[in-house]
Amino acid sequence: MTKSTVKYFCKNCGYSATKWLGKCPSCEEWNSFTEEIVNKTDHSKKLWNKSESGTPTKAIQMQEIEKGSETRTLLPDSELNRVLGGGLVSGSITLIGGEPGIGKSTLLLQLALKINQHVLYISGEESESQLKMRAERIGITNQNCYVMCETSLENLISFLQKSSPELLIVDSVQTLSSDSIDSPPGSISQIKYATAELLRFAKSTGIPVFLIGHINKDGNIAGPKVLEHMVDTVLQFEGDRHYNYRILRTLKNRFGSASEIGIYEMRGDGLREIENPSEILISEREELLSGITISCAVEGIRPILLETQSLVSSAVYGTPQRTSNGFDLRRLSMLLAVLEKRCGFQLGVKDVFVNIAGGMKLEDPGLDLGIVAAVLSSYQNVPINSHIAFSAEIGLSGEVRAVSRIEQRISEAQKLGFKEIMISKYNKGIDLKSYQIKIIQIGKVEEAFEYLFG
Ligand code: TYD
Ligand code: MG
Repeated sequence: MTKSTVKYFCKNCGYSATKWLGKCPSCEEWNSFTEEIVNKTDHSKKLWNKSESGTPTKAIQMQEIEKGSETRTLLPDSELNRVLGGGLVSGSITLIGGEPGIGKSTLLLQLALKINQHVLYISGEESESQLKMRAERIGITNQNCYVMCETSLENLISFLQKSSPELLIVDSVQTLSSDSIDSPPGSISQIKYATAELLRFAKSTGIPVFLIGHINKDGNIAGPKVLEHMVDTVLQFEGDRHYNYRILRTLKNRFGSASEIGIYEMRGDGLREIENPSEILISEREELLSGITISCAVEGIRPILLETQSLVSSAVYGTPQRTSNGFDLRRLSMLLAVLEKRCGFQLGVKDVFVNIAGGMKLEDPGLDLGIVAAVLSSYQNVPINSHIAFSAEIGLSGEVRAVSRIEQRISEAQKLGFKEIMISKYNKGIDLKSYQIKIIQIGKVEEAFEYLFG
C-alpha cells in the first residue's frame, strides 16, 4: 500500500525532518524548510524488487580492477575539456549551474551541435522552435543532434531505453518530474529522484550525462547540496552581465583537478572559447595612467595576466570606504594595513577602490603585489611603466612571499612581451639566465616601493 506522508526538507542541505523547523540542525541555515509529500512504501518496495530481480552485485578485489578503464572523449571545446580534467569520462554525470541567462543552454547546445556523436538534448524549458532559433544563431547544423521537449522522467527513461544516444544533455534538472513522487516539479524530492535515475542510467550504460541546474539567490545550485554529492563533476558558469566574458569553474571533479577555469566570450553567434585570456584582459593604452598595474595570477594550471586597478582618494565621509571588484575585500584591508604599518602611508584617511579588469574574480594570492603597487601608484599619482608585471604574495609583516608555478608565470609574462617581472626572492631555484625578461626579486614591500618610485 502506498502511504503518503508530509515531510520537511532543508532547501540548503537536503536534511529531512517530520516537522517544520526554523533552523536546520544540519547546516544551521534559518528558514530553509519546505513541505513536501513523500510516497513512503513506493520507494522501498521498488528498491527491494529491483535487487531481487536484477543481477546480483558482487564485490571485486582491488587488484583485479583493470587500471585505465575510464575512457575519455575529447569534446570539440577545449575550455570544457580543460575544466573536465582532459575530456569527458564515459558514464560520468556533470552538473552545470549558473544564474539565469548566463549562457548554460547556449554552452551545451553549442556542444551538442559541434560534437560528432549522436546527442540527445532534452529541454524542459524551451520549445523546439525556440531551440531551432537558438541553433540558427549559433549557425551550426548537425544531423546527429536530436532534441526532445520533455518534462516527464518516465517518458524520458522509456525513450532512452529504445534509443541509444552517445551523449545526453538535460536542460534543466529542475524541470524533470516523476509520477511516483507527489511533490511538485522542481521540489527537492523530485530533483533528487530525477538525478538518481539519470545517475543510474549513466552508470549502467556508460553514456555521459550533462545536467543543467539553476542556482538560487545565494549562488548555490537550487536544490539540496546532496545533488552536488551525487554527481561526479560540478561546474559553475559565471560572469558579469555587463561583460561578455564567462567563466566556467570546476567546483568538484572526481576525475581531475577542481581548480580549473575555462573562459568564453558571449557573442552574437554563441560562445567563443578564449584560449589565451591574457591578451583580452590587458587593454591597450596609449598613455600611462596612475593606479594601473599588470599582475600575473594562476588559475588551475594556467597563468593569466590581467590588469589590477586602484583608485585612492581622500575620504569624503568620516569612515573611509574600501570597495573591491573581483578581489577579496578582507585581503585588501589586510594589504592596506600592511602598507600603513610597514611603509607609513596614511591610507586610514583615504577611500580605496580596487578592480580586477574584465569582471574576473580571482583568489590567487599572487595578485597581492600587483594590487599593492596599483594602490601606491594611485596614492602617489605616479604611473607605473606598462612593461612590468607583478606576481607575489604579501605577508602580514610586509614580507614578499613565494607563489606557486613561478616559472609558468614568468614565461607567460615573457611570451606577452613584458620586459620585467617583479617576484619574491623566496621563490628559489629559478634559472634566471634562461629568460630574456628581467626578473626583479624582492623580499619586502618597501623594496617594491623603492624600485618603482624611489
Ligand atoms: P542562455 O543560454 O539562454 O542562458 P541560460 O540557459 O543560462 O539561462 O543565454 C541566453 C543569453 O545569451 C541571452 O541573454 C542571449 C545571449 N546569447 C547571445 O548573446 N548569443 C547567442 O548566440 C545566444 C544563443 C544567446
Ligand atoms: Mg537555459
